Amino acid sequence: MKFAVAFALLSAISGYAAPAKRAVTDTDILQYALTLEHLENAFYHQYLGQFDQAAFQKAGYPDWVRNRIENIAEHEAQHVALLSGALGSAATQPCTYQFPGITDPSSFLATATLIENVGVSAYLGAASSIVEKAYVTVAGSILTTEARHQAWLYSSVEKGPAWSGPEDTPLDFDEVYSIASAFIKSCPTSNPTLPVKAFPALAIADDGSITTSASTDGAYVQVIAGLTSNTFPVVNGKVQGLPKVQGISYAVLTSQGNNTLVGDDNILAGPTIFNRPFNSKTSNPAPAF
Ligand SMILES: *[C@@H]1O[C@H](CO)[C@@H](O)[C@H](O)[C@H]1NC(C)=O
Repeated sequence: MKFAVAFALLSAISGYAAPAKRAVTDTDILQYALTLEHLENAFYHQYLGQFDQAAFQKAGYPDWVRNRIENIAEHEAQHVALLSGALGSAATQPCTYQFPGITDPSSFLATATLIENVGVSAYLGAASSIVEKAYVTVAGSILTTEARHQAWLYSSVEKGPAWSGPEDTPLDFDEVYSIASAFIKSCPTSNPTLPVKAFPALAIADDGSITTSASTDGAYVQVIAGLTSNTFPVVNGKVQGLPKVQGISYAVLTSQGNNTLVGDDNILAGPTIFNRPFNSKTSNPAPAF
């Protein structure tokens, strides 16, 4: 790990003390990926168990939809097996989960789309931290498969576009963990502790109104879409000039107005997920920041 080497060198030269938050190792990244795969695996298992073919038919879906969701569920189980195999007896174990708002096959599929998209953002964000090159290929092969799951859900099932924009959105460890932790009720105490933290929840309404336990005084909202992002000031609990980005995008609340300086040290809450499906059959380009 680049940071670890840099810190070791720095410590040797100047006696510099490493910060409290330790560097992320490849093992951490595998455990982190497994944490997310366990969540996905449990999610599909729970709701395929709850909604049978008759429930999907009643909700207006042809039989191939549920059949293919079963196939996706098998993939997630396979991802769990792959990562667990690499970690051996140290592999983190499944937690217990809560998925609010799922009452029928339709809300199940809508949540599946978002969870698959967060999976893509997680692998994309972690990629540059992986040291062992062989793991990059393994992570990449899972990433593209999660992207195909999401694309299929968003297009074949929901009849929308298979993408959000020209690039997918990388999210860092803390950002992804913050989203995942909202779904996690409790974990076995024997699970390894990861060097990640969860920020408070954030919700932003269409009119820019913010709901969060964090203070919004003098804060900004950073909207993240693909490889671009920008900050927007918050005035009286409302984001000013919130752009309506097409597809799935994310936003965090931050104390930092300078977009290039937004990071874990100044993020106050979030991310929240925006889902603005658009008609891919017509010419309606995404608004620029
Ligand atoms: C934002 O931060 C970057 C990096 O420190 C700096 O180069 C840039 O000048 C800053 N922009 C503004 C508007 O302060």
